[in-house]
Amino acid sequence: MSQLPDGQTAAAGQAAADHTRQDFWRKENLNFSKPHYRLEKARRIIEKAAGGRECTLLDVGCGPATLMHMLPPNVHYYGIDIAIQRPAPNLLEADIVKAPIGFNGIRFDIVHAQGIFEYVGDVQSRKFAEIAGLLKDDGVFIVSYWNFSHRNPQDYFAHTNIQTIAEFRDDLSRHFTVDRFFPASHNFHQHWPGHKLTQAISMHVNLNIPVISPRLAVEYFACCSARPPRAG
Ligand SMILES: C[S@@+](CC[C@H](N)C(=O)[O-])C[C@H]1O[C@@H](n2cnc3c(N)ncnc32)[C@H](O)[C@@H]1O
Repeated sequence: MSQLPDGQTAAAGQAAADHTRQDFWRKENLNFSKPHYRLEKARRIIEKAAGGRECTLLDVGCGPATLMHMLPPNVHYYGIDIAIQRPAPNLLEADIVKAPIGFNGIRFDIVHAQGIFEYVGDVQSRKFAEIAGLLKDDGVFIVSYWNFSHRNPQDYFAHTNIQTIAEFRDDLSRHFTVDRFFPASHNFHQHWPGHKLTQAISMHVNLNIPVISPRLAVEYFACCSARPPRAG
């Protein structure tokens, strides 16, 4: 039996769990070291949002910072992740479930979060509020979320934040104006399109198809703007 008082036992247990989680992601996020379909689609959306002007971008759950190498030089990249692979001044290692999202008090033109909100447990709404507070007045938030209602669901044991797309969107609307919400791709099985032709088509098609999208969308993208201040 443990000799430690209960509080200390709990604290030690928590520290071990955190350590394991960071160890897990340190290996797992290496799977995202190369540009992939969803990242390429996000790059296009980001470049449109940037419109060639100098701007700052925060990538939440940046993994190996693959996106950094895909963006043009006018987009000044910052990243946060629980497991940073190559430390650099613009990359911050932090557990966003525990620590507030932020980077040296900078306010961002674009915040991007891809493939991370499925892993944030019960703190989603708080994280949206923090991101809303980091955006410049005309800033945009670009976020992806898995379609847990897919007809052939590919659930992953590490997911800790599971809800319907409608629930995810509703929570976004509490903190942002949701300008666009569309499937990143459709597929009969829940993985990104593998064939070059379907990939090329999906890359350009941002359509919500009634009846079909709810069952075949692999995941969704939302493009949100900072909520305008309430009148009066
Ligand atoms: C599915 S990967 C996506 C990586 C990258 N955004 C992409 O799409 O290529 C999820 C990322 O979230 C990070 N992550 C998971 N939980 C986190 C947490 N609590 N705090 C910060 N980062 C976390 C992981 O280390 C990993 O890099």
